[in-house]
Amino acid sequence: MQTAVVTKFGAPKVLQLRDLPVPQPAPDEVRIRTAAIGINFADVMARLGVYPSIPDPPFVPGIELSGIVDAVGDEVHSLQVGDRVIAFVRQGAYAEYVKTPAKFVRRMPEGMTFEDGAAFGVAYLSAYHGLATLAHMGKGERLLFHAAAGGVGLAALQLCRLWGVETIATASADWKLEIAKSHGAQHLINYAMKDFEDSVREILGDAALDVVMDSVGGRLFRKGWRLLGPMGRYVLYGFASITDRKTIRKWKAAREFLSVPLIHPPSLVGKNKSLIGFNLYFLTEKVDYLQSVTEKLFSLYEAGSIRTVIGATFPFDRIVEAHAFLQSRESYGKVVVLMR
Ligand SMILES: NC(=O)c1ccc[n+]([C@@H]2O[C@H](COP(=O)([O-])OP(=O)(O)OC[C@H]3O[C@@H](n4cnc5c(N)ncnc54)[C@H](OP(=O)(O)O)[C@@H]3O)[C@@H](O)[C@H]2O)c1
Repeated sequence: MQTAVVTKFGAPKVLQLRDLPVPQPAPDEVRIRTAAIGINFADVMARLGVYPSIPDPPFVPGIELSGIVDAVGDEVHSLQVGDRVIAFVRQGAYAEYVKTPAKFVRRMPEGMTFEDGAAFGVAYLSAYHGLATLAHMGKGERLLFHAAAGGVGLAALQLCRLWGVETIATASADWKLEIAKSHGAQHLINYAMKDFEDSVREILGDAALDVVMDSVGGRLFRKGWRLLGPMGRYVLYGFASITDRKTIRKWKAAREFLSVPLIHPPSLVGKNKSLIGFNLYFLTEKVDYLQSVTEKLFSLYEAGSIRTVIGATFPFDRIVEAHAFLQSRESYGKVVVLMR
């Protein structure tokens, strides 16, 4: 079967197409014939060798896909051959056939396309988990969302519009901010052109932020942390700032890491602030929780309250371009690779 393999850590071209044997599902697993693959920034980080717990190359990357169940293990009763599904895997999604435990596979809603399915899970689950479960984002509260025109960003803005949250969106280009606006962002800041801290203060006047959702990290952190008011929640869930548009430079990564201030836990008490981190990749033991949130999000999708935004699709044999495009900061919404 066709796969894309990270042959060594580095620039997009280290991804190479390779023929590998079709996997056999274990008793608790299903095998899926892949239709579409969601490309995540986590895949870029894995390719660059800066994602936690990734195997040494060569390995098949990729954490989410959609497709059709093609074989089921003896112990699997929840799914059948022929089911249209989305699935999460701990690496291995860039392949024509993928096996994964049945508990990480959900049947897609009627009417959901394979493209939408591949683009849905990580973006909406991350947005929901950060905003609702961890930050308890409430109606009328003020949110600063960095990199708001990306996959997670647009999903988050749509949810915030439903929940009545006041949103301040940052992005590195005006055209991206226009897209963020069309998905509900109320205040727009081009953080490549302006100091976002000054801009947020102008927008808020005497008020303060309730929540910051930050997947960029590095130098942005200190300013966002300062902008939080009492009972403010800072949700850190990525570190895109350590990469650059083509590769990763150690000195830049080190500079971004070192610019994050050390926070002494007792200082949180006096300031009434919370610092929260999450990584869905390490949340797989919370199966019931992830399944119930996925069902809730599917209901919103079926009701037309949220809609997947796919900014670009690529055929599988152009997966190197798909990776380069996501890393270049020229993408918006989700980047999806089509297997057939
Ligand atoms: N912890 C988790 O469980 C979890 C789950 C999903 C995603 N994430 C993280 O959330 C972020 C969004 O993921 P995504 O897949 O939806 O990606 P994405 O937002 O579509 O793309 C990443 C965006 O990060 C921004 N960025 C800022 N600094 C960057 C840099 N130095 N190099 C490249 N991009 C930079 C860019 O937006 P601007 O050009 O507008 O700045 C870029 O478009 C990623 O950082 C990802 O690792 C974490």
